[in-house]
Amino acid sequence: MRLAVIADIHSNLEALDSVLAQIDLEGVEAILNLGDLVGYNASPNECLELLQGRQVWSLAGNHDLALLDPERAQNFNIIAYEALMWGRQQVSPELLKFLHGLPLLRERSGSFLACHGTPTSPDTYIAYHFQGKRVLKHLLRHPDVRVCFFGHTHRRALWYRDIRGTVALRPVSPAKMKLSPEEHYLINPGSVGQPRDGNPEAAYAIFDDQELSIHFKSTPYDIAGAQRRILAAGLPPFLAERLAQGV
Ligand SMILES: [Fe+2]
Repeated sequence: MRLAVIADIHSNLEALDSVLAQIDLEGVEAILNLGDLVGYNASPNECLELLQGRQVWSLAGNHDLALLDPERAQNFNIIAYEALMWGRQQVSPELLKFLHGLPLLRERSGSFLACHGTPTSPDTYIAYHFQGKRVLKHLLRHPDVRVCFFGHTHRRALWYRDIRGTVALRPVSPAKMKLSPEEHYLINPGSVGQPRDGNPEAAYAIFDDQELSIHFKSTPYDIAGAQRRILAAGLPPFLAERLAQGV
């Protein structure tokens, strides 16, 4: 199966439009979305409608859960919190139901496991070695699966665990990367709507479970258009500025 993997769209319609246009050229069987559909940017309804209409396999992220239950947003930084409260007033009742119905995990036997933060928590990051090691150990509980997709950090990453048990990061390459059937992997495709790895382009990845490969990609999009919407909505200007920097 050839699969497009996206994450952390965060209500950025301009970025989502551009990524979907590229994915349409890839001949994939499905699109997997690792959560955080809402938050930060200014087009929540448009993004939710698009994802629902295209039958994207979406998961709930911590921002999606916090929009439904603001108690969960108490630990968010003030800018994230402000954007979430704005989004809560915008999302239509029908789309709230759609958000409410999103699962926390997806598993395709023999192919992949998918989560937002980690398989046991949408709030926990995989950013450091001990976190990667812990989740790769957890993956052994899913004997049919060698690849776990995750988001939440807004940074592309490819963690592996080899047959000796060594856990390390493999540098992300712009070329297609072959995976080994002997190893386990944690793969983050990067963020569509608020990339934080210094590249402001909207990130996504193409996974092929037959040839066992991952191809990290990104596409330019109308950043100025997304910024205009953020400012017109009265959201914090920093949310517009950071899009141009990819931070
Ligand atoms: Fe996020």
